[in-house]
Amino acid sequence: LKEKASMAESMINRRLILQRRPKGLATWEEVVLRDEPVAQLQDGQVLIRNHYLSIDPAIRDWMSDRPSYLPPIPLGSVVRSTTVGEISASRHPNFVPGELVVGLNGWEDYSIAEGDQVGKVRLEPGDAEQYYLSIFGAVGLTPYFGLLAVGKPLPGETVLVSAAAGAVGSLVGQIAKIKGCRAVGLAGTDEKCRWIVEELGFDAAINYRTSPDLVAAIGDACPNGVDIYFDNVGGAVLDATLLNLAKDARIVFCGAISTYNSETPVPGPYNLWQILARSATLEGYLVSDYLDRFPEGIEQMRKWVSSGQIHFKEQIIDGLENTLDAFNLLFEGRNEGKLLIRLAV
Ligand SMILES: NC(=O)c1ccc[n+]([C@@H]2O[C@H](COP(=O)([O-])OP(=O)(O)OC[C@H]3O[C@@H](n4cnc5c(N)ncnc54)[C@H](OP(=O)(O)O)[C@@H]3O)[C@@H](O)[C@H]2O)c1
Repeated sequence: LKEKASMAESMINRRLILQRRPKGLATWEEVVLRDEPVAQLQDGQVLIRNHYLSIDPAIRDWMSDRPSYLPPIPLGSVVRSTTVGEISASRHPNFVPGELVVGLNGWEDYSIAEGDQVGKVRLEPGDAEQYYLSIFGAVGLTPYFGLLAVGKPLPGETVLVSAAAGAVGSLVGQIAKIKGCRAVGLAGTDEKCRWIVEELGFDAAINYRTSPDLVAAIGDACPNGVDIYFDNVGGAVLDATLLNLAKDARIVFCGAISTYNSETPVPGPYNLWQILARSATLEGYLVSDYLDRFPEGIEQMRKWVSSGQIHFKEQIIDGLENTLDAFNLLFEGRNEGKLLIRLAV
């Protein structure tokens, strides 16, 4: 063990460090690539050789210093992200080298983590390790708990979802269909709209970028009103949806990507009165609140994927040096499914 630990000290770690807080899209001025020696492992810690890094919109929120559900990434520290990797040295009794783990680490080749803070990746036949960052990670479990536990869909209800061709949104619509609901998606290109209807089985799709009147377009696609709005974007789309709520509607407030790069405080929503007018609820939702139920969610997603009821896409990009460019695809709507960076596998 000691030999491994001292080996770690002599290893060089490529890390993406948050140098300054971005204004707008993050650039290489704010996030810098540095070579640093791997720190010495302490009792209770594990050294992880990262195989895959997760690229998530929420990381942009953590780069800023506004109050959030996690503290801001400290300046001078590695950019925080979930990773899947292999234990290369362990000073924790539950882990041995070679085991695969998932945890909240960073955009870097090697991460040092408290053993108590990482989970084992258990692969069944047909599973791939990066699924723990996609379908068995936040991307699969966010729609699962958000729609079922917060939205509480009933057969026949209308579920509207924004960023509907994205990693989370595409699963929301498919789960809504499994539960007997009408699924309507909002997406940013005609091609995405076609994909969610023709390949994923959504009932209707709206290109929110080209609709001249979004309030009317949502009204046309949801003639009985919106019973559940699964919001991934906030902003103008949320406002247009508020004017189309059915009585007792539920809004699952899951994300607000349209505001993550804002340089000024975000105004609105302007139509909040509709929450009262429709006896609706708007509930802030974090998948991490359901951590103790993750095994149940993983089991169900595995069943739905293997029975062909759920389809999901991963977009895997090689190389730590491409991480920031990949990250910005999210805010330009140019990602195709769950974005991952592959390091050594
Ligand atoms: N609450 C939680 O626990 C939790 C957990 C995971 C993720 N999330 C949230 O879920 C949302 C989706 O995340 P994801 O990982 O699945 O990403 P994603 O949907 O795969 O990618 C982001 C998509 O957002 C859309 N978008 C980008 N800028 C936009 C803008 N200004 N206005 C409207 N839409 C915009 C783009 O699609 P278009 O081309 O359609 O515009 C883009 O492809 C994010 O808000 C994220 O923060 C929340």
